[in-house]
Amino acid sequence: MAMQNKIKPSAAPIGVFDSGVGGISVLKHIRELMPQENLIYVADSKHAPYGNQTPDFIQERSYQLAEFLLKRGVKALVIACNTATAAAAAGLRERYPDLPIIGMEPAVKPAVAATKTGVVGVLATSGTLKSAQFAALLEHYGQGVEVVTQACIGLVECVEKGELTSPSTLALLKKYLEPLLNANADTIVLGCTHYPFVRALIEGLVGNNVVLIDTGAAVAKHLKSRLQDNQLLSASDELGNVEFWSNNEAVDTEVVVSALWGAKVSVAPLI
Ligand code: DGL
Repeated sequence: MAMQNKIKPSAAPIGVFDSGVGGISVLKHIRELMPQENLIYVADSKHAPYGNQTPDFIQERSYQLAEFLLKRGVKALVIACNTATAAAAAGLRERYPDLPIIGMEPAVKPAVAATKTGVVGVLATSGTLKSAQFAALLEHYGQGVEVVTQACIGLVECVEKGELTSPSTLALLKKYLEPLLNANADTIVLGCTHYPFVRALIEGLVGNNVVLIDTGAAVAKHLKSRLQDNQLLSASDELGNVEFWSNNEAVDTEVVVSALWGAKVSVAPLI
Protein backbone atom coordinates (compact mmCIF):
# COMPACT_ATOMS: atom_id res chain seq x y z
CA MET A 1 0.00 0.00 0.00
CA ALA A 2 1.45 3.35 -1.04
CA MET A 3 1.82 6.22 1.39
CA GLN A 4 -1.42 8.09 2.01
CA ASN A 5 -1.55 11.58 0.67
CA LYS A 6 -2.34 14.44 3.05
CA ILE A 7 -4.84 17.00 1.75
CA LYS A 8 -2.81 19.96 0.53
CA PRO A 9 -3.67 23.61 1.13
CA SER A 10 -5.73 25.52 -1.40
CA ALA A 11 -2.73 27.18 -3.04
CA ALA A 12 -1.36 23.81 -4.17
CA PRO A 13 -1.61 22.90 -7.85
CA ILE A 14 -4.07 20.54 -9.52
CA GLY A 15 -2.44 17.59 -11.30
CA VAL A 16 -3.84 16.50 -14.65
CA PHE A 17 -2.56 13.57 -16.71
CA ASP A 18 -3.30 11.71 -19.92
CA SER A 19 -1.60 9.17 -22.18
CA GLY A 20 -0.53 12.19 -24.22
CA VAL A 21 -1.73 15.61 -25.29
CA GLY A 22 -5.45 14.75 -25.47
CA GLY A 23 -6.13 15.75 -21.88
CA ILE A 24 -5.24 19.32 -22.81
CA SER A 25 -8.82 19.46 -24.11
CA VAL A 26 -9.93 18.94 -20.48
CA LEU A 27 -7.25 21.25 -19.08
CA LYS A 28 -8.69 24.08 -21.19
CA HIS A 29 -12.10 23.67 -19.55
CA ILE A 30 -10.46 23.64 -16.09
CA ARG A 31 -8.53 26.79 -16.91
CA GLU A 32 -11.65 28.52 -18.20
CA LEU A 33 -13.71 27.63 -15.14
CA MET A 34 -11.00 28.20 -12.51
CA PRO A 35 -8.37 30.56 -13.98
CA GLN A 36 -6.82 31.23 -10.57
CA GLU A 37 -5.78 27.60 -10.04
CA ASN A 38 -2.20 26.46 -10.59
CA LEU A 39 -2.15 23.51 -12.97
CA ILE A 40 0.40 20.82 -13.77
CA TYR A 41 -0.22 18.78 -16.91
CA VAL A 42 1.61 15.54 -17.66
CA ALA A 43 1.55 13.93 -21.11
CA ASP A 44 2.77 10.32 -21.16
CA SER A 45 3.13 10.55 -24.95
CA LYS A 46 6.02 8.08 -25.12
CA HIS A 47 3.54 5.39 -24.09
CA ALA A 48 0.58 6.60 -26.15
CA PRO A 49 -1.73 5.31 -27.33
CA TYR A 50 -2.94 3.68 -24.11
CA GLY A 51 -5.92 2.38 -26.08
CA ASN A 52 -3.86 -0.51 -27.46
CA GLN A 53 -2.13 -1.36 -24.15
CA THR A 54 -3.17 -3.86 -21.48
CA PRO A 55 -5.12 -2.62 -18.42
CA ASP A 56 -2.17 -3.66 -16.20
CA PHE A 57 0.28 -1.57 -18.20
CA ILE A 58 -2.03 1.47 -18.14
CA GLN A 59 -2.58 1.05 -14.40
CA GLU A 60 1.16 0.93 -13.76
CA ARG A 61 1.79 4.04 -15.87
CA SER A 62 -1.06 5.85 -14.10
CA TYR A 63 0.45 5.01 -10.70
CA GLN A 64 3.81 6.40 -11.80
CA LEU A 65 2.29 9.61 -13.17
CA ALA A 66 0.25 10.07 -10.00
CA GLU A 67 3.41 9.61 -7.89
CA PHE A 68 5.17 12.20 -10.03
CA LEU A 69 2.34 14.70 -9.52
CA LEU A 70 2.02 13.99 -5.80
CA LYS A 71 5.74 14.69 -5.36
CA ARG A 72 4.92 18.12 -6.78
CA GLY A 73 2.34 18.61 -4.06
CA VAL A 74 -0.91 18.44 -6.03
CA LYS A 75 -4.13 18.88 -4.04
CA ALA A 76 -6.28 16.97 -6.54
CA LEU A 77 -5.77 14.62 -9.47
CA VAL A 78 -7.63 14.65 -12.77
CA ILE A 79 -7.35 11.56 -14.95
CA ALA A 80 -7.96 13.38 -18.23
CA CYS A 81 -8.19 10.10 -20.09
CA ASN A 82 -11.16 7.76 -20.49
CA THR A 83 -8.89 4.76 -21.08
CA ALA A 84 -6.79 5.35 -17.93
CA THR A 85 -9.89 6.02 -15.85
CA ALA A 86 -11.27 2.59 -16.78
CA ALA A 87 -7.96 0.88 -16.00
CA ALA A 88 -6.70 2.82 -12.98
CA ALA A 89 -9.24 5.10 -11.25
CA ALA A 90 -10.32 2.45 -8.72
CA GLY A 91 -6.72 1.54 -7.89
CA LEU A 92 -5.67 5.18 -7.53
CA ARG A 93 -8.60 5.91 -5.21
CA GLU A 94 -7.59 2.96 -3.07
CA ARG A 95 -3.98 4.17 -2.92
CA TYR A 96 -4.90 7.79 -2.13
CA PRO A 97 -8.19 7.75 -0.26
CA ASP A 98 -7.84 11.37 0.95
CA LEU A 99 -7.03 12.86 -2.43
CA PRO A 100 -9.86 14.16 -4.65
CA ILE A 101 -9.48 12.08 -7.84
CA ILE A 102 -11.63 12.96 -10.83
CA GLY A 103 -11.89 10.47 -13.67
CA MET A 104 -13.90 10.50 -16.86
CA GLU A 105 -16.01 8.19 -18.95
CA PRO A 106 -17.79 8.49 -22.30
CA ALA A 107 -20.93 10.66 -22.01
CA VAL A 108 -23.42 7.87 -22.75
CA LYS A 109 -26.03 9.16 -20.30
CA PRO A 110 -26.48 12.68 -21.81
CA ALA A 111 -26.27 11.21 -25.32
CA VAL A 112 -29.10 8.77 -24.60
CA ALA A 113 -31.14 11.68 -23.22
CA ALA A 114 -30.44 13.79 -26.33
CA THR A 115 -31.03 11.33 -29.19
CA LYS A 116 -34.19 11.68 -31.26
CA THR A 117 -33.48 8.87 -33.73
CA GLY A 118 -32.83 6.45 -30.86
CA VAL A 119 -29.31 5.78 -32.15
CA VAL A 120 -26.21 6.98 -30.31
CA GLY A 121 -22.68 6.64 -31.65
CA VAL A 122 -19.64 6.34 -29.39
CA LEU A 123 -16.12 7.04 -30.65
CA ALA A 124 -13.48 5.83 -28.19
CA THR A 125 -10.29 3.80 -27.88
CA SER A 126 -10.54 0.04 -28.03
CA GLY A 127 -9.28 -0.05 -24.41
CA THR A 128 -12.27 1.99 -23.26
CA LEU A 129 -14.77 0.05 -25.36
CA LYS A 130 -13.45 -3.32 -24.11
CA SER A 131 -13.47 -2.28 -20.44
CA ALA A 132 -15.86 -3.63 -17.82
CA GLN A 133 -16.60 -0.01 -16.84
CA PHE A 134 -17.91 0.77 -20.32
CA ALA A 135 -20.03 -2.39 -20.33
CA ALA A 136 -21.52 -1.27 -17.00
CA LEU A 137 -22.17 2.21 -18.40
CA LEU A 138 -24.11 0.74 -21.32
CA GLU A 139 -25.99 -1.58 -19.01
CA HIS A 140 -26.98 1.38 -16.83
CA TYR A 141 -27.78 4.09 -19.32
CA GLY A 142 -27.89 2.47 -22.77
CA GLN A 143 -31.24 0.73 -22.41
CA GLY A 144 -33.95 1.49 -24.94
CA VAL A 145 -31.62 2.98 -27.56
CA GLU A 146 -29.19 1.52 -30.07
CA VAL A 147 -25.58 2.33 -29.18
CA VAL A 148 -23.12 1.95 -32.07
CA THR A 149 -19.51 1.91 -30.86
CA GLN A 150 -16.46 2.59 -32.97
CA ALA A 151 -12.81 2.19 -31.92
CA CYS A 152 -10.77 4.86 -33.68
CA ILE A 153 -7.41 3.11 -34.12
CA GLY A 154 -4.75 5.58 -35.29
CA LEU A 155 -6.63 8.77 -34.44
CA VAL A 156 -4.77 9.45 -31.19
CA GLU A 157 -1.49 9.23 -33.11
CA CYS A 158 -2.70 11.93 -35.53
CA VAL A 159 -3.46 14.30 -32.64
CA GLU A 160 -0.14 13.46 -30.94
CA LYS A 161 1.63 14.63 -34.12
CA GLY A 162 -0.48 17.77 -34.21
CA GLU A 163 -2.16 16.63 -37.44
CA LEU A 164 -5.60 18.04 -36.78
CA THR A 165 -6.64 18.70 -40.37
CA SER A 166 -4.36 16.49 -42.49
CA PRO A 167 -5.76 14.33 -45.32
CA SER A 168 -4.89 11.14 -43.38
CA THR A 169 -6.76 12.36 -40.29
CA LEU A 170 -9.75 13.22 -42.47
CA ALA A 171 -9.64 9.80 -44.17
CA LEU A 172 -9.57 8.00 -40.79
CA LEU A 173 -12.51 10.02 -39.51
CA LYS A 174 -14.53 9.37 -42.67
CA LYS A 175 -13.98 5.64 -42.23
CA TYR A 176 -14.92 5.67 -38.54
CA LEU A 177 -17.98 7.92 -38.87
CA GLU A 178 -19.52 6.03 -41.78
CA PRO A 179 -20.98 3.13 -39.76
CA LEU A 180 -22.45 5.57 -37.23
CA LEU A 181 -24.08 7.70 -39.90
CA ASN A 182 -25.32 4.60 -41.77
CA ALA A 183 -26.99 3.47 -38.54
CA ASN A 184 -28.73 6.90 -38.35
CA ALA A 185 -26.97 8.11 -35.20
CA ASP A 186 -27.92 11.72 -34.45
CA THR A 187 -25.80 12.02 -31.30
CA ILE A 188 -22.13 11.10 -31.18
CA VAL A 189 -20.05 10.82 -28.02
CA LEU A 190 -16.39 11.87 -28.24
CA GLY A 191 -15.23 9.21 -25.77
CA CYS A 192 -11.53 10.02 -25.83
CA THR A 193 -9.97 13.31 -24.75
CA HIS A 194 -7.89 13.51 -27.94
CA TYR A 195 -10.99 13.70 -30.15
CA PRO A 196 -12.25 17.21 -29.28
CA PHE A 197 -9.15 18.44 -31.12
CA VAL A 198 -10.56 17.06 -34.38
CA ARG A 199 -14.08 18.25 -33.61
CA ALA A 200 -14.09 20.71 -36.54
CA LEU A 201 -13.30 17.89 -38.98
CA ILE A 202 -15.97 15.67 -37.42
CA GLU A 203 -18.54 18.47 -37.61
CA GLY A 204 -17.72 18.95 -41.27
CA LEU A 205 -18.29 15.25 -41.94
CA VAL A 206 -21.48 14.69 -39.94
CA GLY A 207 -23.29 17.96 -40.71
CA ASN A 208 -25.51 20.16 -38.56
CA ASN A 209 -28.11 17.58 -37.61
CA VAL A 210 -25.75 15.48 -35.50
CA VAL A 211 -24.91 16.57 -31.95
CA LEU A 212 -21.40 15.92 -30.62
CA ILE A 213 -20.96 15.42 -26.88
CA ASP A 214 -17.75 15.42 -24.87
CA THR A 215 -17.20 15.47 -21.14
CA GLY A 216 -14.46 18.10 -20.68
CA ALA A 217 -16.76 20.81 -19.33
CA ALA A 218 -18.56 18.38 -16.99
CA VAL A 219 -15.23 17.15 -15.61
CA ALA A 220 -14.13 20.72 -14.87
CA LYS A 221 -17.44 21.42 -13.07
CA HIS A 222 -17.18 18.22 -11.07
CA LEU A 223 -13.59 19.07 -10.12
CA LYS A 224 -14.67 22.52 -8.94
CA SER A 225 -17.38 21.11 -6.70
CA ARG A 226 -14.99 18.51 -5.23
CA LEU A 227 -12.47 21.27 -4.46
CA GLN A 228 -15.24 23.38 -2.93
CA ASP A 229 -16.43 20.47 -0.76
CA ASN A 230 -12.88 19.98 0.52
CA GLN A 231 -12.19 23.71 1.02
CA LEU A 232 -9.44 23.43 -1.55
CA LEU A 233 -10.44 26.11 -4.06
CA SER A 234 -7.67 28.65 -4.63
CA ALA A 235 -8.21 31.89 -2.73
CA SER A 236 -5.95 33.85 -5.09
CA ASP A 237 -7.20 36.65 -7.37
CA GLU A 238 -4.34 36.16 -9.79
CA LEU A 239 -4.10 33.97 -12.84
CA GLY A 240 -2.57 30.61 -11.89
CA ASN A 241 0.53 29.05 -13.46
CA VAL A 242 0.26 26.22 -15.96
CA GLU A 243 3.17 23.79 -16.20
CA PHE A 244 3.52 21.16 -18.93
CA TRP A 245 5.59 17.97 -18.78
CA SER A 246 6.00 15.39 -21.54
CA ASN A 247 8.22 12.43 -22.46
CA ASN A 248 7.52 12.69 -26.19
CA GLU A 249 10.75 12.30 -28.15
CA ALA A 250 9.13 11.80 -31.55
CA VAL A 251 7.87 15.30 -32.33
CA ASP A 252 8.61 18.89 -31.35
CA THR A 253 6.41 18.72 -28.26
CA GLU A 254 6.45 22.45 -27.57
CA VAL A 255 5.06 23.16 -31.02
CA VAL A 256 2.26 20.59 -30.65
CA VAL A 257 1.38 21.47 -27.04
CA SER A 258 1.40 25.22 -27.79
CA ALA A 259 -0.88 24.70 -30.78
CA LEU A 260 -3.36 22.63 -28.75
CA TRP A 261 -3.23 24.93 -25.72
CA GLY A 262 -3.62 28.01 -27.90
CA ALA A 263 -0.59 29.93 -26.58
CA LYS A 264 3.17 29.49 -26.69
CA VAL A 265 4.28 27.39 -23.71
CA SER A 266 7.41 25.52 -22.69
CA VAL A 267 7.32 21.81 -21.94
CA ALA A 268 9.62 20.22 -19.37
CA PRO A 269 11.06 16.76 -20.09
CA LEU A 270 9.34 13.99 -18.15
CA ILE A 271 11.90 11.32 -17.32
N1 DGL B 1 -6.94 10.37 -24.37
C1 DGL B 1 -7.22 9.08 -23.96
C2 DGL B 1 -8.67 8.79 -23.67
O1 DGL B 1 -9.39 9.67 -23.30
C3 DGL B 1 -6.43 7.90 -24.41
C4 DGL B 1 -5.95 7.82 -25.77
C5 DGL B 1 -4.96 6.73 -25.95
O2 DGL B 1 -3.83 6.92 -25.55
O3 DGL B 1 -5.32 5.70 -26.53
O4 DGL B 1 -9.11 7.68 -23.75
